[in-house]
Amino acid sequence: MEINYQEPSKDLLMRIDIHEKYGSANIDVWTNELLQTQAGMKILDVGCGAGKLSFLFYEYTKGQAAITGGDFSEELLEKARAKNKEVGANIDFQFLDFNKPFNFADNTFDLCTSAFAIYYAADLKFTFGEAHRVLKPGGRLFVSGPLPENKQMFYEIIKEATNATIPPMPGSSRFKGDIFNTIDSLFAKTELHKFENHLTFPEVAPFIDYVRASLNEDRKLWSAMFNGKDEYEALIGKITDVATRWFERDGKLVMTKVVGGILATK
Ligand SMILES: C[S@@+](CC[C@H](N)C(=O)[O-])C[C@H]1O[C@@H](n2cnc3c(N)ncnc32)[C@H](O)[C@@H]1O
Repeated sequence: MEINYQEPSKDLLMRIDIHEKYGSANIDVWTNELLQTQAGMKILDVGCGAGKLSFLFYEYTKGQAAITGGDFSEELLEKARAKNKEVGANIDFQFLDFNKPFNFADNTFDLCTSAFAIYYAADLKFTFGEAHRVLKPGGRLFVSGPLPENKQMFYEIIKEATNATIPPMPGSSRFKGDIFNTIDSLFAKTELHKFENHLTFPEVAPFIDYVRASLNEDRKLWSAMFNGKDEYEALIGKITDVATRWFERDGKLVMTKVVGGILATK
């Protein structure tokens, strides 16, 4: 399955901001407790985007780890580099296409991570093979992504608004199956961890912001539901009507993000 997936940077930053404002649990705390990155480690963050995870490791290790962030979006890399300058960090942000050979020698890194990114790889065996190759023996791979029970309420509202069948999302539909199995076949030890975050929206508007930033992300998958700007706005209108009815009925809108973290050891 080939998915040409480009994240518009404002949508990614909008979703990160909404998670921070309305979430009940903090994914950064979960990630840090799970990975316990340390000074002196060599870390590669694949599909780093604007560098969220790379900066998390930078802070956790107090700048004492050698961190490389790789992404194929020059726009997001520019954002990451600007923040690097702003906070005086020394993270190496560079171009990396995870569908191509990684530009690093065998056995280079102690930790290779990928948050909500690498599961879009065209050939999982190839991409995770590259991650395995660049890790040192005993090095760890951490991949996070949505589990199938993720964002149920979001899909139910869209279903009610459109009466349409919701297309399977490549992240959640592949995460526990193909992705876990591919990693498990390459690595010596593989575990699945789970993180739940209830996003409670105190009004309809920020939920609609989230819907827009999400429909854009997977717009190629949603294309059966809208064609062009007018149909897109009409769809948003219908979703707003359903969300408003739910909000009036329940007094709030609660969406639960269910994230899986695959942690594997070479
Ligand atoms: C949802 S974002 C996650 C970004 C970041 N890891 C975070 O947690 O904020 C997905 C990222 O995957 C990147 N991406 C998608 N396909 C890619 C590819 N073939 N090679 C490298 N990066 C890719 C996108 O540019 C985007 O930055």
